[in-house]
Parts: sequence; structure tokens; C-alpha cells
Amino acid sequence: MCGIVGYIGNDNAIDIVINGLENLEYRGYDSSGIAFLDEGNIDVVKCVGRINNLKEKLSKEYKNFFSNIGIGHTRWATHGVPSDVNSHPHLSMNGKFAVVHNGIIENYLKLKEELEKLGFTFKSETDTEVVSNLLEKLDDGDFLNTVFKMKKTVEGSFAFGILKKDTNELIATRKESPLVVGISDSGFYVASDIIAILKYTRDIIYLENGDLIHFKDNSYTIYDKNDKIVNRELKHINWSVETATKDGFDHFMLKEIFEQPKAIKETLLRRLDEDNNLNLDGLEDLLDSDLKRFNKCYVVACGTAFHAGLVGKNILEKAFNFPVILDIASEFRYADNFLDENTLLIIISQSGETADTLAALREAKRKGAKVLSITNVVGSSIARESDNVFYTFAGPEIAVASTKAYTTQLVSIYMIALKIGRILNNISKSEYDEIIENLKLIPDKIQLMLKDTQIYKSIAKKLKDKSNCFYLGRGLDYYTAMESALKLKEISYVYTESFAAGELKHGPIALIEDGTIVFVIATQRKLYEKVISNIKEVKARGAKVFEITQFDDSNCVCDVKILIPKTIEILMPIISVIASQLIAYYASLAKGNDVDKPRNLAKSVTVE
Ligand code: G6P
Repeated sequence: MCGIVGYIGNDNAIDIVINGLENLEYRGYDSSGIAFLDEGNIDVVKCVGRINNLKEKLSKEYKNFFSNIGIGHTRWATHGVPSDVNSHPHLSMNGKFAVVHNGIIENYLKLKEELEKLGFTFKSETDTEVVSNLLEKLDDGDFLNTVFKMKKTVEGSFAFGILKKDTNELIATRKESPLVVGISDSGFYVASDIIAILKYTRDIIYLENGDLIHFKDNSYTIYDKNDKIVNRELKHINWSVETATKDGFDHFMLKEIFEQPKAIKETLLRRLDEDNNLNLDGLEDLLDSDLKRFNKCYVVACGTAFHAGLVGKNILEKAFNFPVILDIASEFRYADNFLDENTLLIIISQSGETADTLAALREAKRKGAKVLSITNVVGSSIARESDNVFYTFAGPEIAVASTKAYTTQLVSIYMIALKIGRILNNISKSEYDEIIENLKLIPDKIQLMLKDTQIYKSIAKKLKDKSNCFYLGRGLDYYTAMESALKLKEISYVYTESFAAGELKHGPIALIEDGTIVFVIATQRKLYEKVISNIKEVKARGAKVFEITQFDDSNCVCDVKILIPKTIEILMPIISVIASQLIAYYASLAKGNDVDKPRNLAKSVTVE
């Protein structure tokens, strides 16, 4: 996910674009840049890091400079590490076209090869530079026509802002990626999100999929996906700046919970072909090597990422056909483990910067282990130092409580394990197909759950005045209970513990008293009867039990049953956790806490 902004009008495009980018930083923040016309030439200023770095650079090189037309970009790296050269805008080789892009050009490698044969060279690793050079190749002197031709050639998703040398015109177009247009008396604006331009106008046009807008001579024309002129309605919106940043959601956490269907699709579908084959970019050399040499696999992470590893243990063990060892990074790095060149270490980290996880990685590498990391941040320290990296394409996660990063981590582990399991012949083709087919259905099932959140709001009201509560589960549900308890405690501050339901009678049951709230996660058929017994045990001691389950059996012994969509049991953790994310969110809200920034916590823990 990246953010783009463009402006053409009477005011200074540089100020407007920079202000817009600052408001889009939530969409990506590893680098940024701007292009504007300077006496007909296109000048580009860009650099790695936050937008402040760009502002500093501009204030040195272009102090008090005026341009009436410009495009800008804030990046969330997907193709190539965050660096000055990989930052947008990207100029064509002859400097005639500048492009900013949000999205992914799927046929960029093929296009790049074709362009290279024609003598084009590339400075960056990005798919976007291919588009600027493609524009140069297709240039027939007519800016609009050249962009039409480019649009027909590229495949994938995009929102583009494009400038051409010696041409006081701005073209923007979108397919799948968002793009809105703003109109004011002093000019025209385009942006990935209304928030970027709200300061200047509330008169907005939402471009439809495939639309292109051409700004020229103080006017604009919109073309639809077939290049036919269309009218799009101009809407006046009343959003506050604060609401708009979060796409209309009250908090980033809620927005990120709702983004999960899309994030899971991104992570999964781009690696899956029509025949259900998994193409795991980034792991090619590992998968082509002798996987049989591994006789140990450790999974190491912190916090939520550690819970993702726990859920993944089961399928990884199937894949390798040997026990897989889980450890918390801060413990692992000091433990006397058995790392050697026959060890695979799987590191999981949303940020890719967690100090303990990074230290564990370094320790393992020092001892000769092969390191595969699963992370959300391209070019992060963990990504850079690992032998192989698998990206969860969840987009930036802003709320401290991790949601979409977690579910995409789960999907990533399933994909990696399935692939390894097939290569080693430890997972049968039919088992593989069944899991893949069901994984593909998960986004729609989550979408269904998110349609009605009433039950979670009413549970939150009951939790509001409690000082403690519990999550119980067995098997995979125990791991979901651990993640659920973490979610609830970190943002609601209700003291929440998770227990393996079978361990209850060995101690924790002493904590149950009249009115204690106990959440029970029960999604595994073979363990169901046992879980029912545990529910009876805590109820007999006065607990109020909320059961999160896919079984609608009538012999429910709980007080409230939260029915969630069904899927095969091994995948249930991806669905059941959505319920506890919502419980945590609404509980935090009901208590009036700062949901996105809970006390004492940080999104990325870069201290040991
Ligand atoms: C912090 C965050 C958690 C996260 C953990 C590990 O505690 O608040 O949400 O799970 O760090 O972070 P990582 O970026 O390595 O996944």
C-alpha cells in the first residue's frame, strides 16, 4: 500500500503535495518523493525515510520554489527495498515522463525484458520504473493517447499520477487501487485518499475502476475503462480530517480488522495460480535445495507473531514429519539450543525490527542455521538479514494491537508448510487441495462475520466493569485463546489469562468465582466433548461462559454461544480469532481507552 497525490492549478503544487503526503503517511512511510515542472523540465526530489526527510531536502534544494503542477508519493515497499532509487516518482530514461504508482504491475518482468531488449536501462528494482519507460517507448507525441496505450499494456492493480515534460497537463488513472479527485476554485487534486486533499476541498469525484482523468487548460475530462468520455458525479462531503484518515472507521484497529479479507486475499492469491499451485516468491532457492537435510525446525517470534507460530506448529510438523520447536525470541536467544546447518529457523515478525527477534536470528545464523523470515515490512532488518523472506502483504498496520498482520502470518505459514509438505511428500495432494480450497474461502467468511458485530458490542458492555476474565481452549483453540487473551488485556486492561482447558483442574479453577467471565473457544470436533465438560466445571463454580464455536449443537451448556462460520478444523484459528479481536476492540472502546495506542505499549519494540 502506498499513497499518491497530484495537483494542478494556481497554487504551489509543492506545498499541496507535501501536505497531502503527510496525511497519507499511514499508507506507507519507508520513503517518499515529489516531481514537478520546472520551466518545462521535470524535477524529482525523493529520499528514503519519513516525509520529514523529504521536506528537509526540498527546503535545501528548492526553498521558496513555485510550480503549479506536481505529483508525490509515500511508499510502502513491495518491489525492492526502501531506498532513494526505489522511491517514487520514477522518471523515464529520457526524463520526459514521471510516474507515481500505488499497486502492483503483475507483468512488469515481461515488460522489463522487452524494454531491455530495446536498450532501456533501469535504475531501480521497482515495477513502476517499467511504466515510465513503457510510456517513453509508446510516446507518439500525444500525452493522453500514450497513457491510453500504456494502460492497455500493463496488468495488475494501479493508481497512477503522471507528468510529461513541457506539458502543463496531469493525467491520473486507476484500476483496483483507490483514487479520488478534488475540485476547488484554485485547482484540481488527485489522491489515494480524501484525507490528503480535505484541507483544500470537500468537492470530490470518486473515480470508478478503470477511469482516467486528464487535467488540461483549467478543465478536466474523465474517460472510462474503454477510453470513452464519461461524467462522474461531483459529491460534497462533510468528513472531518480525523474521520477520513481512518477511511471512516473510528480507529485504525477497527479499520485493520475490517481489512483482513482483503489482506488475506493479497497474501494468498498472488501466490496461487489457477491450478492451485503455490509460487512462493522469495523462497525459490530454499525450496529447490535439499529440504531433507533439515532435521530440526525452530519457530521464533514475540507477542502476537509468536502465537501465529504456535498455530502453525501443527501443519509444519506435518510438512517436515518431525517435531517443530516454538520459542519466544527473548528466551531462545539465551537458550542452549541445538542449532546447526541442518536447522531451519522460521522467524515471524510484523515489523521486521523487533530487537529480541533480530538477536535470535543473528544467533541462529552465527551457528549456521538457515533462516526463513515471515514479515510484513519489505527491507526491514529481519528481511535483510534472513536467508529467505516471505512477505505478508497486509499493508501498514498502525494500531498497536496486531490483527491483520496475525491472520496473514497464519495464512503465510499454511502456504509455506503446504509447499514444503508436498515437496517432501509428507502432505498428500488431496489434503493440500482441501486446505487450499478452504483457504480461498476464508476472506468471504470473515467478511460475513464482520457484517454483524452487535454480539461483540453487547459482550463488551458486560466485560467493562470486570477486573479479570479467562480464555480457555484445547489443541489449536488453546493457541487462539492465548492470542485472544493478549488482545483483550493489552487494549482493555482487563486482566485476562488463557489456559489449556485440560489444565483447569490443576490450579486455574481456583480463580473462578461467581460471575467470572470465561470465554471458551471450541472449534475442534474431536475435543468438543472434553471442552463441554470444562464448561460445566467452570459453570458449576459460578462462571458466566461465552462459547466461540462453529458447532450449533443444541446441547449447549454455555450462557452465550457465539456462532462463527465453519471451515475445516485446521483453519479455524483464522476465523475464531476475528471474534476475539472484536471483543477486545469493543471492550477497550466501552472502557474509554485509547484503542490504537494502549498505555505502556509500542507497535515496534526495538529495545531488548
Ligand atoms: C509488540 C507489538 C505486538 C507484536 C510484537 C512483536 O509487542 O505490540 O503487536 O506482536 O511486538 O512484533 P513484531 O513486529 O516482531 O511482530
